[in-house]
Amino acid sequence: MANTEKHVIVTGASSGIGRAAAVELSNQGYNVHLIGRNRERLAKVQAETLRDGVQSQTYRLELTDKDAVQQVFDEIYSKTRRIDGLVNSAGIFNTTDVLDYDDQSWKEIMDVNFYGTLYPSLALLPKLFDQGFGSIVNVTSIDAFDGILDYDAYSASKGAVTSLTKTLALEGASKNVRVNAVVPGITDTEMTHERLLENIEKYRKKVPMQRPAKASEVAKPIAFLISDDASYITGQSLHVNGGWRLA
Ligand SMILES: NC(=O)c1ccc[n+]([C@@H]2O[C@H](COP(=O)([O-])OP(=O)(O)OC[C@H]3O[C@@H](n4cnc5c(N)ncnc54)[C@H](OP(=O)(O)O)[C@@H]3O)[C@@H](O)[C@H]2O)c1
Repeated sequence: MANTEKHVIVTGASSGIGRAAAVELSNQGYNVHLIGRNRERLAKVQAETLRDGVQSQTYRLELTDKDAVQQVFDEIYSKTRRIDGLVNSAGIFNTTDVLDYDDQSWKEIMDVNFYGTLYPSLALLPKLFDQGFGSIVNVTSIDAFDGILDYDAYSASKGAVTSLTKTLALEGASKNVRVNAVVPGITDTEMTHERLLENIEKYRKKVPMQRPAKASEVAKPIAFLISDDASYITGQSLHVNGGWRLA
């Protein structure tokens, strides 16, 4: 089947890796459904992803609101009658320190990074199981594997998504529904740009390839895992990090 008949939902599509994934998927001919909160940035990405024969729709959605997520996913499915893929890229990266613990900061990060991945998956999985195909790609982080000082909740939230990826992969395997993760190292996006500028020498030393990834370099592996080229890959974490962990 041609990609032009396929539909992929992308969260975090208004910025960074999610935006790059939406652009890559639309370049490959997929119809894209862009989820974010910022109206102007979503409209910009819609303009970048609309092309001949490719639809691009935007949806403003707070991903921590379970009912709202279900409603938007039902709305999309009622129009398309099929969904081929979901990219869960939305996330936040805030400092938390266990020695200076407060409930609110941890809750905020878990709500967006973990529940903001779980709710879209829950809203979509029954539909994917019924139709008998589909691919979910969760964007996690190298910090889920290595930890990161002063970002305790962030690394824990990404660890939780890493485990969720494997469990949902097991749930979906017999129904031809695949669930994988792409694991970025340091990537130059709105989330990290300032920090990168301040710490560029540190990252040069840490990353064997001596530079951060471009968002487009993370987007291509995401698109691969969404595609039928990855038809026998499920439950895996694909690291995209310039050799970081070899150092
Ligand atoms: N950049 C890196 O170096 C790096 C490394 C490892 C992992 N990651 C992971 O990659 C993913 C994308 O990061 P990025 O660098 O592309 O970040 P980004 O440029 O800051 O984009 C974050 C996206 O998440 C959306 N978002 C945040 N909170 C939301 C909420 N409550 N409801 C709905 N949408 C929400 C934002 O939407 P609005 O702006 O419209 O609100 C935005 O589209 C994240 O999961 C991040 O943890 C990034």
